[in-house]
Amino acid sequence: MKKYLDCLKGYWVYTILAPVMIMLEVALELLIPRVMSRIIDSAIPSRDMALILKFGGIMIALALLSLVFGVLSGRFASIASVGFASRLRTKLFCKLQEFSFANLDRFSTASLVTRLTTDVTNTQNAFMMMIRIMFRAPFMMIFACIMAVQINRSLFRIFYAALPILLVTAVIVIIKGYPRFMQMLNRYDSLNASVQENLTGIRVVKAYVREDYETSKFASASADLRDTMIRAEKLVVSAMPVLTLVMNASLIAVSWLGGRQIIAGNMTVGELMSYNSYIMQILLSLLMVAMIFVSLVLSRASFRRIGQVLTEESTVSDKDADPDIAPEDGTVDFEHVSFSYAQTPVLRDVCLHIPSGQMVGIIGPTGSSKSSLVQLIPRLYDATEGCVRVGGQDVRRYALHPLRNAVAMVLQKNVLFSGTIRENLLWGDPGATDEEIAAACRAAQADEFITSFPEGYDTYLEQGGVNLSGGQKQRLCIARALLKHPRILILDDSTSAVDTATDSRIRSALRSQHGDITTIVIAQRIASVQDADQIIVLDDGEVQDTGTHEQLLQRNTIYREMYESQVKEGC
Ligand SMILES: Nc1ncnc2c1ncn2[C@@H]1O[C@H](COP(=O)(O)OP(=O)(O)OP(=O)(O)O)[C@@H](O)[C@H]1O
Ligand SMILES: [Mg+2]
Repeated sequence: MKKYLDCLKGYWVYTILAPVMIMLEVALELLIPRVMSRIIDSAIPSRDMALILKFGGIMIALALLSLVFGVLSGRFASIASVGFASRLRTKLFCKLQEFSFANLDRFSTASLVTRLTTDVTNTQNAFMMMIRIMFRAPFMMIFACIMAVQINRSLFRIFYAALPILLVTAVIVIIKGYPRFMQMLNRYDSLNASVQENLTGIRVVKAYVREDYETSKFASASADLRDTMIRAEKLVVSAMPVLTLVMNASLIAVSWLGGRQIIAGNMTVGELMSYNSYIMQILLSLLMVAMIFVSLVLSRASFRRIGQVLTEESTVSDKDADPDIAPEDGTVDFEHVSFSYAQTPVLRDVCLHIPSGQMVGIIGPTGSSKSSLVQLIPRLYDATEGCVRVGGQDVRRYALHPLRNAVAMVLQKNVLFSGTIRENLLWGDPGATDEEIAAACRAAQADEFITSFPEGYDTYLEQGGVNLSGGQKQRLCIARALLKHPRILILDDSTSAVDTATDSRIRSALRSQHGDITTIVIAQRIASVQDADQIIVLDDGEVQDTGTHEQLLQRNTIYREMYESQVKEGC
């Protein structure tokens, strides 16, 4: 709750003014029937035109003033709710930035998109309702009741019959509606997932001529959403006739019983008329309360989903870290490290020592947890057991910023952003000069192809770098990582799309120009790691062996088999 209240910062005045204006509007509205009854009971029978005009004038003035307050309250409520939503959205977005990889594994991207859009809009509407109608309805109901009781106490008994029906209807809508609306929002997630997956993978979809399949997948997600929406809305819609029936029945009962009281001389015509107006106002406000409940039910689901994101604790936190220390050198140690994704154990009892400045190769069959192993170094995930040390210190002792600045990682699934090549490279170091950028690109063997583009470093990259080849993208990502001037550089299969000659040039440039950086190279090709200081052979989440190329060729069967098969294939 406190998290939601924080979002009102700067909008408190509007949040308070909106209901105040509403109350003024209602107060004036409630006076109108009283003036009306005066016209009917005193001015009309005595045919006093001046009095009729005077009361008429008062009624117009009251109506106009109440209109002004109504408009003001609408305006204030809009400002407050739009401001609230925008802050909530920003807060959610900032929260997402704090998420670790493990947090991101828990929520699907599509679901996060729905939470940031549809759910925030729902809460915005609910908030608007809360500060307008939630004040208007009870205030109007209470004061209209007081006015009605003042006019005639016995007629008020009609409500004792109407109220339980209205309450029961509202309760049914709330209890049955919540799961249905929740289901509807989950269907939104599936629909968004289908759109998002299709858009990100549109090239693969086309390459496999799967457009029809994708269209039918979308159509079925859309039909599912339609069906759950109908189920949810049906409930609300079927409650409406019950409410209007109760309202009209009450009006008829008042007119009938009131008419009999007039005949008996206990009530005047004017009183019955204003009584009828108050009854209308009371019933309308009850209707509004029912509507608010429906909207709150809908938004409760959204509030919960947003709350889940806001209260999600980042699994990687640096609250207990010492903000003043940074890794002093590039040594990496794994001490009896085990690691699991959620419930699946992938690394078991890994022990490694990598001295600063070494070039280390990691090799192993696909799925042997090579990527999982190196992701523990910059704390993209935290080890489940054991301790990972960088520069001699437990990685959890460093704040995330200095640690990740010291460890540059080129992810297996690397990403470039829309913008120029230069802008993308500056991610590594926002203050890098043109010479530094060019030097990093030369080391990564990217300089040549960049300068061959007509616009060179100012060539615009589309989203995800789609206008570059796979190997060009990989080399840009290496240059971007080098610009960070890291102590440790991790290349996770980062030269898989680069030809062997270029691959070898990148490695010798790294050795000659960046010899002080600890470089960890994950590769499928033995050629990419054979000149490393030590090679780690991983198999099924365990370190099978470590040694130099020659040592491993002699004693390790997995390594020898990989080498021989690759030499035979001419890799
Ligand atoms: N985010 C994740 N959530 C759950 N399990 C995962 C996740 N990422 C990887 N895994 C699992 O962890 C195991 C190791 O995966 P990992 O990506 O570390 O292998 P790898 O050796 O890098 O493979 P490759 O050579 O294909 O890149 C696999 O069985 C995989 O299914
Ligand atoms: Mg991998």
